[in-house]
This record gives sequence, structure tokens and C-alpha cells, in this order.
Amino acid sequence: MSAERVVNLAPIIPMKELNTKETYFNPFPVYDVLQKESPVRFDIERNCWDVFLYEDVDYVLKKHELFSSEQRRMVERENLLRMDPPRHKQMRDLVNKAFTPKAINDLAPRIKEITAELLDEVGESGEMNMIADFAMPLPVIVIADLLGVPPEDREKFKVWSDTLVKGVVENKPEAFAAVEKEQVQARDELRDYLADVLELRRKEPHDDIMSALLAAEIDGTKLTDSEILEFSMLLLAAGNETTTNLITNGVRILTEMPHLQKEVAKNLALVPTMVEEVLRYYPPVQAPSRIAKEDVILRDQLIKKGDAVVAWVAAANRDEAKFSDPHSFIVNRKPNQHLTFGKGIHFCLGAPLARLEAKVAFEELLTRFHHLNVKKDALIERTQAPQMYGVVEYPVTFKQ
Ligand code: HEM
Repeated sequence: MSAERVVNLAPIIPMKELNTKETYFNPFPVYDVLQKESPVRFDIERNCWDVFLYEDVDYVLKKHELFSSEQRRMVERENLLRMDPPRHKQMRDLVNKAFTPKAINDLAPRIKEITAELLDEVGESGEMNMIADFAMPLPVIVIADLLGVPPEDREKFKVWSDTLVKGVVENKPEAFAAVEKEQVQARDELRDYLADVLELRRKEPHDDIMSALLAAEIDGTKLTDSEILEFSMLLLAAGNETTTNLITNGVRILTEMPHLQKEVAKNLALVPTMVEEVLRYYPPVQAPSRIAKEDVILRDQLIKKGDAVVAWVAAANRDEAKFSDPHSFIVNRKPNQHLTFGKGIHFCLGAPLARLEAKVAFEELLTRFHHLNVKKDALIERTQAPQMYGVVEYPVTFKQ
């Protein structure tokens, strides 16, 4: 493995402070200590810098001139998230034409319908597996619909999207190689599949994102087929697990703080601020990363050109210099300038969609179900990829 590959992949290994079951499951007290003791530090094992304070995380994400997003892993080729200007701006302006706030808002009735269907299926059993029955299928179906994928292929989509965001637990070249091999295969299968959808839409445009991407044009420039396919795959990789985790993390909070269930159900106007607070408190994405484009001094530390920098938004979101009472979940917190969707030119393109899905999901859940509780004796474990934050399964009981 080349030195460059090690730098690029290193940030997806958990840091050693999180290598017990408890700290991995609840990393927030660890971030708190690191924020106070070593706000900007180099981790030799992971071969990267870690940045924990709000001000610094904000700076790293905003200063794209200093911190590049171009960290090519084998499976990520021409991907918006990994582009720097001027390429990034050209591409983002074009996809923005298809991914407009109006296009997202128009999805609201469909999202409600899918939510209702999924919850109807749970029926009156009084039990459900929050992820498998609801939080996982909802975003997969929404993105599949957006891209024009038929219902019978949704399960395949889920498998591909999971494989694309899979983390590497062991810091060993064999472990990286195995995951990369799986990812390359998933990526190729997905690309072939979407190429067929693209051809169908070229012949017969529909009211979906794929058709809008084919039509998008700025000053005579259009997206190439390859760019449309890469972007469609990015939506899947960037939008599914993140939104699943947002919903499940929110349900976790509702079961950890049961008084909130009644409070919010009685006043659904609280749902939007509740969603923002879930994003701040249990961020589905813990830490985007960058590569320094030149030598940069941050809090007296010299970050050298080419070094990897991990921007811990999950720590920044609990920085007491920015948030009062940061370790408390405050359902109507305002303002709430969390960094969970990033900052600057790469700010999450899907944020309006994720917010809408979560809003509809919590409104429906809280209206239909009461006394939500995590199932007794359930084993609750955090998912593998340390840059994400979610649980593997979340079985709950409820009353209707
Ligand atoms: C970018 C988080 C949902 C599509 C990002 C970034 C973050 C993020 C942190 C910036 C990463 C960086 O700066 O390196 C989240 C979270 C979500 C979510 C926490 C759910 C709770 C979605 C959804 C979609 C989506 C639903 C689309 C369907 C994208 C895209 C980018 C992006 C395309 C790249 C934007 C760019 O580079 O210009 N997201 N995301 N995300 N997200 Fe999301």
C-alpha cells in the first residue's frame, strides 16, 4: 500500500480513546476531554490531525482554499463531495438546478404517504424494529423514487448503499483491501443498474431527479452521463444511512427522555427544533475530513501540506463556547448552529430533504405511537464506521 493511500484512509479507523465498548458507544465525554486537553492534535496511529473546537472545525470546513476535499479513495472517482473549486462550483451549480428547494418540498406528500404505509405495516403488534421496519426503508424508498427506481429493486439499493459507506474496523492493509474490493464491486453493479435507468429517462423523461439532471444546463454546458451516474450514486451513499441514523438517533432520544414524547406530541410545532437538536446532540456524521493544501498553523500546531485533518463536528456541536448547557438535549434550542451538515461550499445538498423526512417521520411516530420504549434486554450497539453515528438495531415497544 502506498504512503498516500494510508493518509487518505486513516481517518476512518476509530481513535484509540474510543476502543472500549462504552467509549465507542458514547464518545461524547471523550470528545469533551480531548477538546479541553488537546484541541488540535496529531494522532500517530491514524496518521491524521484531529480538530475538536467549534471555531476550528468551522474554520477547517469553511476554508476550502486551505483544506482540500480531494481525497481520492479508489471507489470515489468524480464525486462532488470530493471536488475542489472550480470543478466543484460548476458541478454543484448544475445539480442545484435539479435538486431545488421546490423539488424537495414537492416531495412532502409522497414522503407522508411512504411513512404512513411503513407504519401501517407495523400494525397493532405493539413492537417494531425501528431501523429495519422504518428508519432504513424510508430514505431508501425516497431516493429510489427520486431517481426513478421501481419498488422491486429497493432492497438491492439498500445493500449497495450500505456497502458504499462501510467503515474499516481493523487498521490492517488486508482489512482495507477487503472492504475496498467489496465497495468496487457494489459500485460497478450500481453504476450499470443506474446507466439503464438513465437510458430509459433519456428516451422518456419523467418527473424525477434523473430526468432533471439530464435536462440541467448552464451556458450551454450539461452534465455528462458519467457525471449524472456519479452524482446519483453519491445521493445514495450520502443520503441513506445518514437519514436512517437521524431518525433512529431521534427515537433513541425519545426513549431515553420519555417526557419528550408527550410534550412534542401535544405540540407538533416543536418538531423542527427537535430535529435540529437531534442533529446537534447525536450527529449521524461525526467528522468530515480534509487534506491541507499548504502549511497551516492552528492553535500553535503546524499542520503540514498534505496532512489529513479530521474535523470533529460531533465535538464542535457540544463546545460550551458556542452552546449553552451543551450536554443537555433542549427540544426548543434556538439558535442552534450545529455543524452536522457541514459548512461552506460542501454544505450538505440533501439537508432540506433530510430535515423534511425527519419532520414527517417524527410527526407520524409521535401522533400514532405512545409510550415508546426500547425493548427490554435488547442489545444496542453502535454501527461500525467511526465517522458515522448510529446503532445497528433498535427494537422498540409502544402503545397505540
Ligand atoms: C454533503 C451530512 C443527508 C447529499 C454533506 C456533508 C455533510 C453531510 C456533513 C459535507 C461533508 C464535507 O464537508 O466533507 C449529512 C447528514 C444527513 C445528510 C447528517 C442526514 C441527516 C443527505 C441526503 C442527501 C445528501 C438525504 C441526498 C439525498 C449530500 C451531497 C453532499 C453532502 C450530495 C455533497 C455536497 C457538496 O460536496 O457540495 N452531507 N447529509 N445528504 N450531502 Fe449530506
